[in-house]
Amino acid sequence: MSVTEEIKSRLDIVDIVSDYLPLRKSGRSYAGFCPFHHNTRTPSFYVFPETQTWHCFGACAEGGDIFSFVMKKEGWDFKEALAKLAQKAGVELEPLKPVNKKKQAAEDKMAALLEAAADYFHMLFLHAPQGEQARRYVGERALNDETIATFKLGYALQSWDACRNHFHDQGYSDEELLAAGLLTENPDKGTRYDRFRNRLMIPIRNVNGRIAGFGARTLEKDGIPKYLNSPQTALFDKSHLLYGLDGAKRHIREARQVVIVEGYMDVMQGWQAGFRNIVAQMGTALTEPQLRQLKRYTKRFVLALDADAAGQKATMRGLQVARETLDREVEVKFDAHGLVQYEGRLQADIRIVTLPEGNDPDKIIREDPTQWPKLLEQAQPVVAYVIKTATRDLDMNDAKGKTAVARQVLPLIRDIADPVERDHYWQALARALRIDQRALRQIKVPTKKTYARRSPPVQSAPSNQPPPPPPLPPELEAASTTKPGAIIRRTSDGKMAAGMRQTNYLSQCLHHPHIMNQVNQRLVQNQQPPVSESDFTGSEDRLLLQQMQHWQGQATVASVNELCDSLDNTLNERAQALLALPAAPESELEQLAEKLVKSVLDWRLNQTMRLNGEVRQLVEEAKAVNDTHALQTYARQSLELSRQIRNINQARHAMSAVSRRKAEDSVR
Ligand code: UTP
Ligand code: MN
Repeated sequence: MSVTEEIKSRLDIVDIVSDYLPLRKSGRSYAGFCPFHHNTRTPSFYVFPETQTWHCFGACAEGGDIFSFVMKKEGWDFKEALAKLAQKAGVELEPLKPVNKKKQAAEDKMAALLEAAADYFHMLFLHAPQGEQARRYVGERALNDETIATFKLGYALQSWDACRNHFHDQGYSDEELLAAGLLTENPDKGTRYDRFRNRLMIPIRNVNGRIAGFGARTLEKDGIPKYLNSPQTALFDKSHLLYGLDGAKRHIREARQVVIVEGYMDVMQGWQAGFRNIVAQMGTALTEPQLRQLKRYTKRFVLALDADAAGQKATMRGLQVARETLDREVEVKFDAHGLVQYEGRLQADIRIVTLPEGNDPDKIIREDPTQWPKLLEQAQPVVAYVIKTATRDLDMNDAKGKTAVARQVLPLIRDIADPVERDHYWQALARALRIDQRALRQIKVPTKKTYARRSPPVQSAPSNQPPPPPPLPPELEAASTTKPGAIIRRTSDGKMAAGMRQTNYLSQCLHHPHIMNQVNQRLVQNQQPPVSESDFTGSEDRLLLQQMQHWQGQATVASVNELCDSLDNTLNERAQALLALPAAPESELEQLAEKLVKSVLDWRLNQTMRLNGEVRQLVEEAKAVNDTHALQTYARQSLELSRQIRNINQARHAMSAVSRRKAEDSVR
């Protein structure tokens, strides 16, 4: 993950903007009075948590990301904004070492490969005759088309080399396929073959929606293993990832609660039924990095555990980790935000619900969705749950056994900050053990670990190892450290997302600088504005484009290296990542310009339509509350956006007419 992505993933634009102006919830977004132009009657400024962007639908008619917001508001340049937000996010800015650049570039290339692989498997799932069994299976599990598209379910062919050959043709090497976990090597024979064969492919995304790896379910009855996951790679680390978090995060915030389940199917089934604040562990115990990630969205956790998992030592240990992690984090934060939390003092509320024997959320939700919220309501606070589980099989005549249980539970009770709550559990434990509270208080347990204040609260720079999670039992000692990546946003229609098109545009223009002018000329010929900063969402991409344009205007011919040297670290990092993507071959430059123009038009269309969708919703809302002034403002915006959409479409049609004619000419 690049520094800017790391910062974006740790901060929420809604929080940041709220520091400057009051926002109120309005549908899926937040609205306020625009801080950049005089406006007091109708809130024209919108923040979209889903895309972590903002937009002014009033006089400004512009938008951007978290960086561009603070840059504009504070008058900072990118460097200043980066430094300030990095500090806020607890991300350490480090000068990039050359070796990191290389590593980053390789990771970005791997991310692009995984994204392409997900598309490839998804296409096979949707269209290949061989995918019939997978389609039938997903049908039997009652997942509908929308869910299939949202989670981009795929199918890997029953073949030892189909995937390998497919990506060889795309210019990827065996080494890259091995590193991404798509290929497996037999260490004895040295043979290499597709890792995933005849399986349902479930892409696993990081918190930012970038694909990090796959979970692959067998389609055979009793196939082993049931789920074959990506191996540990530079991007895939099961102990840091939570399945479904990218899509669930805003629902977690809205519901003010996260539900943690065990499997992929549970998340998807829940999503389909409208329960969207659900994430899944992937066969490992909860780890500190996972909890820390979740804690950014809520302090209320409900663990929905399978009956067989519930009693396990592993789970108990996980719960202890949970309490320690979450409590400690609260103690550490002493900034303005932290003080609020500190005063709240409630800390994390962790509850546990055990599912009836032989049931998992997938099954429960499918059979009767109304059961799900009812079940969650029965969740018990963690200490109560631990007392219950630890004393369940205890022989009340076994004095030593009682002491052992007390020693296990007491540290948890002593950790409780709230005195009333603490006392409550002293009593509860005494009752459960059927002993006197005074006796209980005499039992010696190792004193509570004192947690030193760490500053800054959470430390992790892209080049640093994150702080090590507390030790886990050996059977759970899974993989370590992750580095997620990929520049691409999710689309449900399988088409290239706007972010991906922008990335591709920048990458090709870096590889072939003169193409920028050609693209702009064609755009202008088609009554379209040339590519400008406002075409890009990400602040670093805006700045990079600015630099590239500046560089283009120079009389002396500079090399890409010189351009990169002129950039500061963060932009250089981005440029290197873009350069790591494959360049279009020289022989295809003529078509490249044309392709890029189409691509620009497509992403403009995409973005303009999205904005128009938002404005239309605002129009409806204004109508509903009879706010004529707002209605006028938004109607005007919508009209303008519709006009733009028409123009873009005209340009697209004109372009395809030209290429059709050319194709016909070349046949003649
Ligand atoms: P389960 O065996 O409970 O699977 O494992 P499930 O989600 O209910 O799967 P279905 O409904 O039979 O399809 C729970 C989770 O543990 C991990 C997976 O993440 C799975 O979702 N797991 C399980 C593996 O990684 N490998 C396995 O072989 C089995
Ligand atoms: Mn299941």
